[in-house]
Amino acid sequence: MSFDLVLFGGTGDLTWRKLMPALFQAFRHGKLPEGGRILAVARDQRSDAEYRAFIREKFTGVEEAKQPSDEEFAQFAGLLHYLRMDLSKPDDYTGLQSWIEGRSADTVVLFLATSPSLFPVVCEQLAKVGLNKPHVRVVLEKPLGHDLASAQAINLTVGATFREEQALRIDHYLGKPAVQNLMALRFGNALFEPLWRRESIANIQITIAESIGVGTRGDFYDATGALRDMIQNHALQLLTMIAMEPPSTNDADAIRDEKLKVLRSLKPFTPEAVARDVVRGQYKAGTVDGKRVPGYLEEAKVPADSGCETFVALRTEVQNWRWAGVPFYLRTGKRLAARDAQIVVNFREVPHPIFAGRRQANKLVIKLQPEDGLELHLLAAKGGGATTSQGHEVLAPVSLDLDFDKAFASERVGAYERLLLDAIAGRLNLFVRSDEQEQAWRWVEPILHAWKADSLGPRPYVAGSWGPAAASALVARDGCVWAEEQ
Ligand code: BG6
Repeated sequence: MSFDLVLFGGTGDLTWRKLMPALFQAFRHGKLPEGGRILAVARDQRSDAEYRAFIREKFTGVEEAKQPSDEEFAQFAGLLHYLRMDLSKPDDYTGLQSWIEGRSADTVVLFLATSPSLFPVVCEQLAKVGLNKPHVRVVLEKPLGHDLASAQAINLTVGATFREEQALRIDHYLGKPAVQNLMALRFGNALFEPLWRRESIANIQITIAESIGVGTRGDFYDATGALRDMIQNHALQLLTMIAMEPPSTNDADAIRDEKLKVLRSLKPFTPEAVARDVVRGQYKAGTVDGKRVPGYLEEAKVPADSGCETFVALRTEVQNWRWAGVPFYLRTGKRLAARDAQIVVNFREVPHPIFAGRRQANKLVIKLQPEDGLELHLLAAKGGGATTSQGHEVLAPVSLDLDFDKAFASERVGAYERLLLDAIAGRLNLFVRSDEQEQAWRWVEPILHAWKADSLGPRPYVAGSWGPAAASALVARDGCVWAEEQ
């Protein structure tokens, strides 16, 4: 199957930091279909050779195991082409059209790694030159809007030119191997599904912690904040995968219908609920990985009086028969103690204890990063006659650990690699449908409104900690603790 992949924003950060390394890995693993061409499009004048040299140089910043040898790069570079285009100029699209129609590839994937403000003009011009035929797909990178109205406006523009199944919205968390394993765990095994409900589960915690700060993206981040950057998309997508009903098939729409139902079942926020159930924080200077780091307000391109949140923890519920009353806690932040993304499913305690000692409920930990694996925490009899002073047997905590990186070794595929291959193959399961995306905004918006009306602003936390103390108090109210506090 031949394909043409066009990267709009071809010299931009996303292209050289994520997309090119992912495409190279797909190439190295022999997964890129034969007969492919990759065309980078940007404003400045460059030849193919100059563009290839630019990308070659950028690869020096990639982790060593993922760097190409000279020979590998020479082969990969054969796929790379460059076209100068000013996206605001209609005439420039005819050049793109003739490049694409110079041969007839089976599939054309247009990856819009540009500012969303350009989506309307790009989509309109693509349609004018006929680059929206059924074999063409358009891939949209976040941020897809900053609230419901702007997301709807983008969807309307894209929808006027491309059919829903041609528009692929990326949430790179869905491309992470652990997230696909979540589907496999729940629906490829009979073991957990009967327990996956309020009768057996006490609460669920989704944490996406980062140790990095905002880096060079201060201006972007300050206009965005953690709620829009991580909760509206990544954390909510993880929640839908955990909470959804079994889809009737593994097809994209069967899955996306179920995810949408979860989003529609989330308890809506009132201003009082925001004050009670949402904690926002902002990092102060501190120490991360043994190094002193500045506070958010000292970061480049951040206004000194910014009220932007770099941390959010919240409590919600999925209001349906399966989950009624079960708290779902979501938490994300920059400059936290560790880079750690995981979902913790805390089961209920045994109904009637017969063993001595501290009761400890079972816990399933789905680890997304830095490692990718599963841990099932159980209690076991140690043997060797360990007893209390009254002679009662004492149980010890043990865990069953599964490290997917070790289990599947080199077959593991990174998120962007997986999503790019899916986009080329037309597999839509791991892309977000417009109604899901809009529903996520609908749910998040009352939080944004309540914050606007609240002059208190974010609570400070020290860089290198786990966020403001109020985040611990949030779960403590339900008698819970975060995973690292257990
Ligand atoms: C992006 C956010 O979507 O996800 C970044 O814009 C964040 O702020 C990144 O750092 C985290 O992704 P990952 O895959 O490194 O956890």
